[in-house]
Amino acid sequence: MLFKRAEILKTVGALGRTIDRDYKGRNPVLLVILKGAHIFAAELSLSIEIPHETEFATLSSYGDNVVSSNTLHFLMDNNIELHGRHAILIEDIVDTGLSLDYILKVLPGRNPASLATCALLNKPERRIESVEIRYVGFTIPNCYVIGHGMDFQQGWRHLPDIWAVNASWIKRNAKPPEVITYKTQ
Ligand code: IMP
Repeated sequence: MLFKRAEILKTVGALGRTIDRDYKGRNPVLLVILKGAHIFAAELSLSIEIPHETEFATLSSYGDNVVSSNTLHFLMDNNIELHGRHAILIEDIVDTGLSLDYILKVLPGRNPASLATCALLNKPERRIESVEIRYVGFTIPNCYVIGHGMDFQQGWRHLPDIWAVNASWIKRNAKPPEVITYKTQ
């Protein structure tokens, strides 16, 4: 186990107080990147006392599990108004940095007054794109983590604590690849 829920909540509370101080009078909008950040974002929102709003966006990568900037697809409702607003991007974990780098290139097109980044976890050892993360919960070594919103093959997000899993755990718990059959007429 890397972090127990109580420790996570303490850290999230501290992030909330920092954001309270930095954004006083600016009514920021938390832009939550689904799915992994949903639990962190809920807890962060509850610990921020200044008025703020919450919106959601999705980042998906086409094809396989390999994230690369030219396979990323950013989905955000056009009705979400960022123009002139102070946006804080909420991520679960920054790993290679490719996702955040991509979002930070796309979002200025929506003309926010300011754009900051906040991640529960930072895994700097695997960084490919250097990105500025203004608010970080924990910095972790190069390991695969699950729980508290973070998944392995869509499962395990509901675990209250954050766990690092090793190669043999991954092998044991990996779902068999989906077999797709095509019907011919
Ligand atoms: P990136 O490599 O920084 O682009 O990270 C992309 C996304 O991969 C993150 O937002 C997470 O959703 C996911 N991810 C990266 N590392 C882990 C991990 O250790 N556990 C679960 N998800 C991860």
